[in-house]
Formats: sequence, C-alpha cells, structure tokens
Amino acid sequence: MVFTASSSSAQFSSAQSSSAQSLRGFRGAFLDFLEDPFYQPESEAVRYIPDGLLVVEAGNVKAFGAYETIRPQYVDLPITTYADRLLMPGFIDLHLHFPQTEMIAAYGEQLLEWLNKYTFPTERRFQDMAHAQKIAVAFIDELLRNGTTTAVVLAAVFPESAEALFAEAERRNLCLIAGKVMMDRNAPDFLTDTAASSYDQSKQLIEKWHRRGRLRYAVTPRFAPTSTAAQLELAGLLLQEYPDVYLHTHLSENVSEVAWVQELFPNSDGYLDAYDQAGLVTERSIFAHCVQLTDREFQRLSEAKSTIAFCPTSNLFLGSGLFKLEQAKSVQAPIHVGLATDIGAGTSFSMLQTANEAYKVAQLRQQRLSPFQALFLATLGGALALGLEAELGNFNVGKAADFVVLDLQATPIMALRNPTLPDSLAELADSAFSLIMMGDDRSIQATYIQGEIAYARSSR
Ligand code: GUN
Ligand code: ZN
Repeated sequence: MVFTASSSSAQFSSAQSSSAQSLRGFRGAFLDFLEDPFYQPESEAVRYIPDGLLVVEAGNVKAFGAYETIRPQYVDLPITTYADRLLMPGFIDLHLHFPQTEMIAAYGEQLLEWLNKYTFPTERRFQDMAHAQKIAVAFIDELLRNGTTTAVVLAAVFPESAEALFAEAERRNLCLIAGKVMMDRNAPDFLTDTAASSYDQSKQLIEKWHRRGRLRYAVTPRFAPTSTAAQLELAGLLLQEYPDVYLHTHLSENVSEVAWVQELFPNSDGYLDAYDQAGLVTERSIFAHCVQLTDREFQRLSEAKSTIAFCPTSNLFLGSGLFKLEQAKSVQAPIHVGLATDIGAGTSFSMLQTANEAYKVAQLRQQRLSPFQALFLATLGGALALGLEAELGNFNVGKAADFVVLDLQATPIMALRNPTLPDSLAELADSAFSLIMMGDDRSIQATYIQGEIAYARSSR
C-alpha cells in the first residue's frame, strides 16, 4: 500500500510549468490497484492515498501521488477538491447487452425461455435506427451514472444497432468494445442473418469502427446454439484477418444450454470445443458466464489466456448457477476474470451491486471474496483481461484519466456506517466492503472521462 508521499514520489522527476492551460488537478482520497490481490498480498496490491493529487494533461494522467509531494511541482495548478470522497479508476463492465436496456427485470424464466419470450422480441426493435439511437443515449447515460467508463457490449443482429452504439460512444469519448451479434439459426427469422451476411457486415463494421479513437470491435457470435458451424468458422476467419479485434460470446451458462450445444455440435468435445474448433478460443476472447464449465474447460481457458466475464446478478436472476471464481483464479491454472452486469439478464448497471452479488455467490460456495479483490475485478482486473492495462485500470502515469468519485455517505445509513474516510488499510477494507454492500448509483457523485466530467449527480 502506498500510504505516504515517499514511495510514490519517484515517478515525478520532471516538474512541469503548471501554468499550461490543459493541466488540471483533482484532490481527494484515492484507491487503485498495482497488482492482482488474488495472487499478491493486499498490502502490495492495493494503493491507497488518503490525501492525493491527480494531475491530468490532455486526458491522461500526468502525475499522481500524495498531495504534499506533487503539489509543489505544479504550483499554479487549478485543482478540484473532493473532500471526504474516494476516487477510483472508472469501472470496467466486461459484458452487457445494449438492446436489452429496456427489458431489464423480465419475470419468471430461465435462459432459453427468457431469450424467446422477452429478449428476441425486444431486440427486434433495433432494426429501427431511430430506436437504436434513442436507446444508445439512455444506455451510455446509465453506464456513466454508475461510474462505468469502459464496457464490452453486444449490439443486436442489425448492423445499424452497432452503428448507433459506436457513434454515441464516440460522441462521449468512451472506451467501448462492441460488435453486431451474429446468429444464423435457432432464432426467429426477423432476427437471423446468414453466415455470409454476418461475415460481411462484421467486416464492414470492423473497417469503420475498430481502433477509431477509443473504440474497438469484438466479433460477436451470440452463443453456439444460434450459430451454425459455418458461421463460427467465418467468425474465426475474421479473427485471423484482424488479429487485434476481440471475440465476445457466451459460454456454459445454463445446464439445458450445455446439453443443447452437445446435440447441435455432436462432433465437439463439449461446449468450449465447439468454439475451439472454429479458432475462437484465443487470448483476445471474452466468454460470459462459464458457470457450468468442466475442469478440462477451465484448464483450456487458462492455456489459451482467454477471459471470463463473471456475471453474478444475471446468474442468480436466471437461476443459472454459482460461478466457481476460486477455480478461475487458482494458482495452478489462472484465468483472466472481470466483473460484468450482463444487462438485461443482470439486474443492475451498478458494478458496486454486481460486486455485492459476487460476494454472495462466493459465500454460497463457502468461499470469500474480499472487497479489494472485488474492486480489482471491476477495475485493473478488467483492464488486464482486455489487454488494455497500458491505457486503463489504475492511476499510473500515462493512462487515461477515466475515474469515478465515490460518496461513501450517499444515504443516511451509509453515513452512519462510514462517518469518516479511513486512514489505514484495515479501515479502508471495511469501508470499501460497506460501499460494495450498500452502494449503487447513489454513491456515484461524478464520473470523469479523460479528465472531463461526463456525469455529475444532482445534489442529495
Ligand atoms: N446467451 C445467449 N444470449 C444471451 C443473452 O442475451 N443473455 C444471456 N444472459 N445469455 C445469453
Ligand atoms: Zn449476456
């Protein structure tokens, strides 16, 4: 833990003229991660600076450390002070569905019935560009209201829906990874493409949006049941043609789904193998859920350096099961894991609430998820999983100044529970835990994208 000025001051050897217009400072208590607290002691993994100063230039972190150390190097710096607030890197949501924004909290079904009854009819509306644009605005508003500054998102099958989402993310300067869903079977006619059209449309979207500003493309077969082997192979071809795009899909969420995949892909050796045979299991692959994985599949994901998006509110809501986080984060066969809301099967856009449910999933499995581990998964863990740790995930110099201002006293009961900001790591762990258990969008006072305010809570 960096608790005093001394150990963090070395980074700032070149003092700058702080009169430069673009330099801005933010003062408050800062929490971020330098290492993975699943594998390193928390005393080394966690960085807590009770009175810190973040200096931002042109959207990036220029300097960061204890206020008393940094301040003398930037004497004229205009500073925004957040007294009694905790500043953290913006949250990274590793898996959610933009066209399901308006159908969150749909009653009574498990995965396959839920898709047919609620999801597919809702996604049909995204053929209409005006509707897609309207929901894209609401969707990104909701991300920012919840302190999420990076997201990995599925659009609908219609390329227009991905267009609308990328355009809105670009307008807000958001780091967004997204793709048009590919599905050429086992879905209503109004929602299917073909293997060839999905390839062509995805390619066009890659050419237009991938690496445009902060945007990235993810080739997105919805899940094995809604793709033919031919479509999965073309998804694999796209990954070969564009080696730096992502692959984003669902994997082993629900028992009936897993059995169905075995029927649909009789020559595959399990669900993951249906993807593997098409070349989709790579270090740029993000697999949502993974609740029903076999031991061999865990092993394979570790070897391939793929990522699992842990979606606790969704897995509980759809009755899918309890993700084995401790197996994914084992020492023997470690897998990259991040947290994800999975809107609209997930029940909250809040990554705090998502961490809350992750803790309870661990409890039900007789495991323990510490508050720092949970917050790591929602920040640096997500950045590492995406291979974006050079740009995102903590306050290291050079990274994007995407951050969130957290109010630990957002409600009367939270104020009672957290009368003061902590001084020590042990106190911080306690406060952070209560923030996860009790906090939600009400705890987000402000969200900054590249040092610019993107959301400010109206006063409480
Ligand atoms: N599997 C395939 N499609 C979906 C979806 O939209 N949501 C969830 N939770 N699982 C899926
Ligand atoms: Zn999903």
